[in-house]
Amino acid sequence: MAKFTFGGNSSGRSAVGKERVKTSKRRSPQSARWLERQLNDPYVKRAQAEGFRSRAAYKLIELDEKFHFLKGKKAVVDLGIAPGGWAQVVRRRLPSAKVSGIDLLPVDPIEGVTLFEMDFMDDRAPDLLVEALGQVPDLVISDMAANTVGHKQTDHLRTMGLVEAAAHFAVEVLKPGGDFVAKVFAGGTDPELLAILKANFATVKHAKPPASRKGSVEWYVVAQGKKG
Ligand SMILES: C[S@@+](CC[C@H](N)C(=O)[O-])C[C@H]1O[C@@H](n2cnc3c(N)ncnc32)[C@H](O)[C@@H]1O
Repeated sequence: MAKFTFGGNSSGRSAVGKERVKTSKRRSPQSARWLERQLNDPYVKRAQAEGFRSRAAYKLIELDEKFHFLKGKKAVVDLGIAPGGWAQVVRRRLPSAKVSGIDLLPVDPIEGVTLFEMDFMDDRAPDLLVEALGQVPDLVISDMAANTVGHKQTDHLRTMGLVEAAAHFAVEVLKPGGDFVAKVFAGGTDPELLAILKANFATVKHAKPPASRKGSVEWYVVAQGKKG
């Protein structure tokens, strides 16, 4: 399986003027670490400066710089859309595309995006997402991740269950030639799912964009050219 790396130093990775956060009675060491990481994360700063709701926006931007899956797309489904960084990228790059998205969490409105606050695993979700577009999607993107319980194997299985459902949805609804991009865990896509993707798309690749934290186990699968 081709695993793609991104060349050069990402502009987001410099750490100048690092801010320290002290623990206190109110702040546990974990939350102090989280806050310190947020304050010193150049992608968080960039997202604030550029008006993106999440640093995750840069993962999609970097993946698209490599694979160009946004180009020319007309109808996009965004799975696990909250808080909306990826959808903002899609809207900025494709102002006339139809976009629908779903999340368990509420999402502040995004102009031009139809939002569903529900579980993607709900039987009604696939039809609602496609109906909202009023046309067959040509791109499905999924950044869904299950809430972690701290047990490595359980967390892996739960997120892979979501990826699998997203992949089946993509295979079922995508227009021929369409693309599917989804978050997977380290080790990539499991063999069964990989076989399904390979059978249904012209190319299937894995990549870890620079905006994805080095310590995190997340990778992305990019399946392009849905077969007719
Ligand atoms: C990493 S966040 C997505 C970030 C988003 N791409 C952005 O750019 O703002 C993952 C999201 O997946 C959502 N999610 C997890 N399981 C889901 C499910 N079964 N149905 C819908 N959304 C789900 C979570 O609620 C969470 O908001």
